[in-house]
Amino acid sequence: MPDFLRLNQGYLFKQAAGWQAQQMWCEVIAYELSFLFNVAVPPAFVSIDSSSDQAGALIELFYPYPAAKRTIRLVHAADFMQRNFAGGSKGRPHALRENLVICRALGAPDPLRWWARAILFDTLIGNTDRHSENWGFLIEGTQDARHFSLAPLYDNGTSLGYGTNDAKLANRWDERQMTAYLAKGHHDIGWSKNEDGPTPHLSLCVRFFTANPGLMEIAAAMLTFTNEQVDEIVEWAAQFNVPVLFQFARGRFISDQLGARRDALREALKL
Ligand SMILES: Nc1ncnc2c1ncn2[C@@H]1O[C@H](COP(=O)(O)OP(=O)(O)OP(=O)(O)O)[C@@H](O)[C@H]1O
Ligand SMILES: [Mg+2]
Repeated sequence: MPDFLRLNQGYLFKQAAGWQAQQMWCEVIAYELSFLFNVAVPPAFVSIDSSSDQAGALIELFYPYPAAKRTIRLVHAADFMQRNFAGGSKGRPHALRENLVICRALGAPDPLRWWARAILFDTLIGNTDRHSENWGFLIEGTQDARHFSLAPLYDNGTSLGYGTNDAKLANRWDERQMTAYLAKGHHDIGWSKNEDGPTPHLSLCVRFFTANPGLMEIAAAMLTFTNEQVDEIVEWAAQFNVPVLFQFARGRFISDQLGARRDALREALKL
């Protein structure tokens, strides 16, 4: 067994079909990028289901296997929000300020710093899907003495321009094309329940860090990675011969996205 896989550990085999198939690579690459940003993400590996010869991402669960031995469980943030959701609007409102209130009420350690990293991570990878079932809490202990912490950032596949088809990537995008594309990127969350709805990636970060200038050092540290470090990751990914290939041109596209988002964040945050 490869040394990065562990016995008595649960894994999730995650696949997406058709035009979403590249999401498996986004999971794997987001995990590799997490080391550059110093953000906790569950390990995600390239894998093949040998019974069907299909490729997917193998994602390490937050708890061991078999389930009977579980001491930790994941609870979606949505489970603590049901009463807040407006009738007829699935999962909304869903906003940063109320997310922080829930984290504090449950006693999760350091929610402000956690969200600082989360919104920067989602901005850097262009994730558009951090809805209230795509973040949550790990609960340990017994009913009487439960301990809540924020789970590592899972479900990172809806990112990195996964839906852009190969034909559009044949020629490298120029700065104008990339800038126009990045401007369309948004978080799933709003700022507050009164200002709910998907919010542009950059503007949510600017608002959050302007309101919390003491956290700017987190942003500064997360935005120090180099283009070469990202190139190394995407070049590594392009070497795998699996049923869902990761093309060189897609790697270049991802690397260009990361560099452009880092530079735009630095400028917007005056770093
Ligand atoms: N590392 C993990 N450990 C434990 N549970 C996990 C982990 N990653 C994901 N899950 C659980 O599995 C569910 C599905 O995973 P994920 O969100 O990545 O896939 P998805 O296909 O996007 O699902 P959905 O469309 O419901 O969001 C999550 O909502 C979460 O409950
Ligand atoms: Mg999900």
